This record gives sequence, structure tokens and C-alpha cells, in this order.
Amino acid sequence: MSKLSIAIDGPSGVGKGITTKLVAEKLNFKPLDSGAIYRAIAYYMLINNIKIEKFDKSILKNINIDFTKHNYVLLNNEPIEEKIRNDEIGKLASDFGKLKSVRTFSTQIQKRLVLEGGYVVDGRATAFEIPQIPIKIFLDADLKERAHRRYLEYKKEDPTIKENEIFENLKLRDEQDKTRTEHPLHKHPDAILINNNNLTIEQQVQLIIDIFNEFTQNTQ
Ligand code: DC
Repeated sequence: MSKLSIAIDGPSGVGKGITTKLVAEKLNFKPLDSGAIYRAIAYYMLINNIKIEKFDKSILKNINIDFTKHNYVLLNNEPIEEKIRNDEIGKLASDFGKLKSVRTFSTQIQKRLVLEGGYVVDGRATAFEIPQIPIKIFLDADLKERAHRRYLEYKKEDPTIKENEIFENLKLRDEQDKTRTEHPLHKHPDAILINNNNLTIEQQVQLIIDIFNEFTQNTQ
């Protein structure tokens, strides 16, 4: 690895996406949205009407996932970004993300990119799936706080949205992600925990940059 990569794991709604993007910008690295891979797989299953009970791992041979140079996900060369950013696909991504063959498939795509170095990965269990990544961060916040932030964000688009529905949705997603047998969501023993309940985005980005700088100084 010429440049180091960084894994940022943590639950839904904790702000990994924006943190990953900003850390990557500061370090001149590329962000990798691992959730987009699971969402693209889920979208493929949805449009081809493949229910999870009917899923067979040979189906994965028909799926090619890539990213544009602006980090938008491509499914079989089709841009699908605006089709996958909704709760239906999020839930389906979590369902399919429980399957071993799906996780292996997604991890292979990520490994190919990340092991070149210079990536910041927004993940769930990246630290376990690609333990070669030297800097592992686990970003966390209380469920109530995450639901409130997501409510404020979604309300701009849809003023009728209910905070308790978002809370229940995130709670369900947490349970599903934490209890799956294949690499459940939890902190890797080598990961540095950052609880961002009381941190601004700028503060948490700076903390990760500080961790990165300290790591690179100590390993020079
Ligand atoms: O980060 P996201 O909301 O885009 O992810 C959607 C779902 O995809 C998430 O609830 C579980 C699954 N996922 C996963 O299993 N592993 C990842 N590294 C990323 C996402």
C-alpha cells in the first residue's frame, strides 16, 4: 500500500458519509461508499424481482458494480445513484447484506480498490472484512441522536415526515446489522471509537485527521 487507507465503520445515520467525504477531501484521498455497493445489489434484485428466498449466489455473476470518477455508483454500467437513496432500498440492502455470498462479493470489490491505498471507506464492518486497512475508526452516536439528525435532514424534503418513524426505522436497521451472522456491526478491537453525540462534523473530521497524522508520524 503506497498510501494508507482509512476505514470508518459505524451504524446507520451516524454521519459516516459526510465524514468520509470531508476526510478524503482533506487528505486528497478517494471516498468509497460501501453502502452504495449493497444498495446497487439490492436495486438489481428489486428490478429483476428476485426475492431473498429465491436468491442464489450464481445471480451475482450478472452484477457488475463500479464507480465513476466522481464516485457515483454504476450497476452494469448504468448510473443508478438517484434510484438507490431511499429507505426501501436501504432496508433491502440490509436484508441482502446478511448473506455470506453477497458480503464476499462486495468485499472483493472494495478490496480491489482499497488495497491500492488512498481510500477512505464508509463501511459497517470494513475493519473485519479488510483488516489490512491500517487505520480503523468506529464512529458511533446514540440512536435517539442519529434519528433526530436524520429527521432534520429529511424534513427539508418532506415536511410531513415523522421523527418516530425514522427512529423505528433506524432501530430496526441497527438490530438487523448488529445481529447478522456474517460480520455483524460492532467495533473492531483495533478500531478507535469516536462517539459524536456532542461533536460537530468539523470536530470529528479533525479528530480523524489527527489520528491519521499521528499514525503516519509513528510509522515513519
Ligand atoms: O450505509 P447505507 O445506509 O447506504 O447502507 C445500507 C445498508 O446496506 C445497511 O443498512 C446495511 C448494508 N451495508 C452493509 O451490510 N455493509 C456495508 N459495509 C454497508 C452497508
